[in-house]
Amino acid sequence: MKKVYLETFGCQMNVSDSERISTTLEKDGYEMTPDESVADVVIFNTCSVREKAEHKLFTRVGRVRNSGRKKPVVGVMGCVAQLEGETLFQKVQGVDFVLGTRALGRVSHAVNETLGKKRKIVDVGEREDDYDWTVADTHRHSPYVAFVPIIEGCNKFCTYCIVPFSRGRERSFSAAKIVRQVSELKEKGVREVHLIGQNVNSYRPETAAGLEGFEGKSAFTKLLRAVAETGMERIKFTTSFPRDFRNDIVDAIEDHENLCNWVHLPVQSGSNNTLKRMKRGHTIEKYFEKIDRLRSSHRDIALTTDIIVGFPGETEADFRDTVKMVEYCGFDMAYIFKYSPRPGTPAFDMEDDVSPAEKTLRFLELERVQRATQNERIRRYLNKKVKVLVEGRSARNANGLSGHSTCHKVVNFEGSSELLGNVVDVEITDIKANSLFGRLA
Ligand code: 5AD
Ligand code: SF4
Repeated sequence: MKKVYLETFGCQMNVSDSERISTTLEKDGYEMTPDESVADVVIFNTCSVREKAEHKLFTRVGRVRNSGRKKPVVGVMGCVAQLEGETLFQKVQGVDFVLGTRALGRVSHAVNETLGKKRKIVDVGEREDDYDWTVADTHRHSPYVAFVPIIEGCNKFCTYCIVPFSRGRERSFSAAKIVRQVSELKEKGVREVHLIGQNVNSYRPETAAGLEGFEGKSAFTKLLRAVAETGMERIKFTTSFPRDFRNDIVDAIEDHENLCNWVHLPVQSGSNNTLKRMKRGHTIEKYFEKIDRLRSSHRDIALTTDIIVGFPGETEADFRDTVKMVEYCGFDMAYIFKYSPRPGTPAFDMEDDVSPAEKTLRFLELERVQRATQNERIRRYLNKKVKVLVEGRSARNANGLSGHSTCHKVVNFEGSSELLGNVVDVEITDIKANSLFGRLA
């Protein structure tokens, strides 16, 4: 049996794709191995959202080539594969096949061909109509948590972003199928599902099948309510797009305890000038309205975001607006990035006029402000009880267990392995960095 090693970079969509890549390969007679050095085939599922992510691929393929052993077949999948196609063979020596983001279903074919006939394969084509989205239980990243894609692709074309090019147009999956899938996962003992997509709340299925009778102004809100009705223990969803984030999403969270109290709502900038040049389709005032609604909820909804500093044309005054915005919103967590020009995006043609040194300064300052806010906000959990899904043993402590709260914080505590897969109450006694520590209540 030929062995395949698969390494994943990037977002949850890539992690989810990798689960299906492993499922397909194993079904077709390959064995997945966590040990690269014994693999006949090495596959990288790649990310191209920033230049750094893309460079990781070049470094990794170089290491495989120079490892000293007979070179395995090397496959590149995911976003870099989709964008580069054939040109990847020239850019990176030693690549044998390139499979785009919608060609996952044909991975076994590419592996067969390259292993046998020593010919190179490129496939950046469309998905098969009957593509099988199921993930074998053994290939989920966790036995208790499952990712369920509800929409793929992106139609937003924010000017900095490569995703509309790497992932193609938005396509929403059938609500009836999603609901059925969640019910099946529940039967199998999965305790938490993440409804995933580049913009989950832009969800727009072809038919209303499965959504009839559910309240909501948008199909997404109806879907949330329909999924909640399956009785799945916990439901999280990510990523939300601000322009399509309607208040009735918060209403749904308030009506259903199993819709978790965590929202990831990337803001990108606090300056209307910058938001306009980013083509985000919303003003900062509109964003604040949504934050105010989230904050007014009795559910204590944790709020996380993404921010880019040093976007082309970002002035000192624009940056100050971003700092003020961060102070106003009080995010529980913010992923801050320095702007990275991506060839093919509209912003690539704008002058990248914020110097690297200035980007670093802005990054560090924003990080400092955010950390102060975050340290302050996380204290609200101290001496409180949170519900934790016990997901694994901790690496550091022999009796340690760890899992996530409903508000998506990592929680560490002590207990026996029998608790794995259960939802338990943990009383928070300590806080370190962005993690909570406590004892079983
Ligand atoms: N440069 C820097 N950050 C980017 N992101 C997306 N494109 C770029 C880019 N060109 C960030 C955004 C997005 C997150 C996934 O990555 O903040 O929300
Ligand atoms: Fe990276 Fe975006 Fe592709 Fe996810 S969809 S892997 S974040 S480029």
